[in-house]
Order: sequence, then C-alpha cells, then structure tokens
Amino acid sequence: MNILVINGPNLNLLGERQTDIYGENTLEELMMWLETSADGQNHNFKFYQSNHEGTIIDSIHDEREWADGMIINAGAFSHYSYAIRDAISSVDINTVEVHLSNIMEREDFRKISVLKDVCIEQIYGLGRNSYIEALKFLQDNSKGD
Ligand code: DQA
Repeated sequence: MNILVINGPNLNLLGERQTDIYGENTLEELMMWLETSADGQNHNFKFYQSNHEGTIIDSIHDEREWADGMIINAGAFSHYSYAIRDAISSVDINTVEVHLSNIMEREDFRKISVLKDVCIEQIYGLGRNSYIEALKFLQDNSKGD
C-alpha cells in the first residue's frame, strides 16, 4: 500500500519537546522506525510534517491519487480544525488518526477530536506504537480487501 503519514504542528520538536509526555525519539527517528518496522517494509511511504494548517491540507490534496491509506497526527489541530476534517472527507483515503499521548487523560480540550468521525479509527496513548497500530489497522481494512 501507499501510505501517507502526516504530522502536524510542534511534532518537528519531538525528542526535545515535553519528553515526559512524547518520548525521547525525534520525529525523523520515529518515522524511520515506522518505515523499517516489520509491517512497514511491506509498504511505500511519504512523510510530511508542517506547522501550518493550509500546508497539511495541501499535502492531503496533493497525495489523494497516490495514497491508499493515511496516518495523521494533526497535533493540536486535531481538536479544532474543521478545515483538516473537511480535507479528509474530501478525499477517498482510509485515514487513521493517531496521537502519541493519551489525549483522554490530559486537559479537557484534548479529549475532543473533530477528525475522529471522518477517520476509520482513532489510536492514542501508545507512544510510537500508535503509528504501528495505525498501519496495521490500515492494512487490515484496506479497500482492496
Ligand atoms: C498529540 C496530542 C495533541 O493534543 C497535542 O496538541 C500534540 C500531540 C499527540 O501526539 O499526543 O501536539 O497529537
């Protein structure tokens, strides 16, 4: 499968940002780990990171023909970006929303995701394994099946 992985705002600072919550790995290490994992080796990946809502939307649009599945950690945009929600519903790509941290056990504003309903699954709280579980979910629910 062709897997589009989108990471949103502040995730470029993984490894130095609130490491007690988000872990010690940099985003680059995390994405490399995903790509070279046993499950990852069966797929093609494109990775995008942006701190800008419009750039994230453009990436979704640009890869809409290429991608068979999408893993998105939209960071704080997950909690309020109707524009990213609309972008996901505007394309025909099975999408899994992921979060490194357990958004249900943090501040109240993080408990709400405006993306959840337009994704086929929401996975959170597993650290970097959230991404692997998302990949497995996409594999198991691919449109070709
Ligand atoms: C996050 C959780 C969000 O609430 C936060 O704004 C992030 C990271 C996570 O991966 O746990 O930037 O998406």
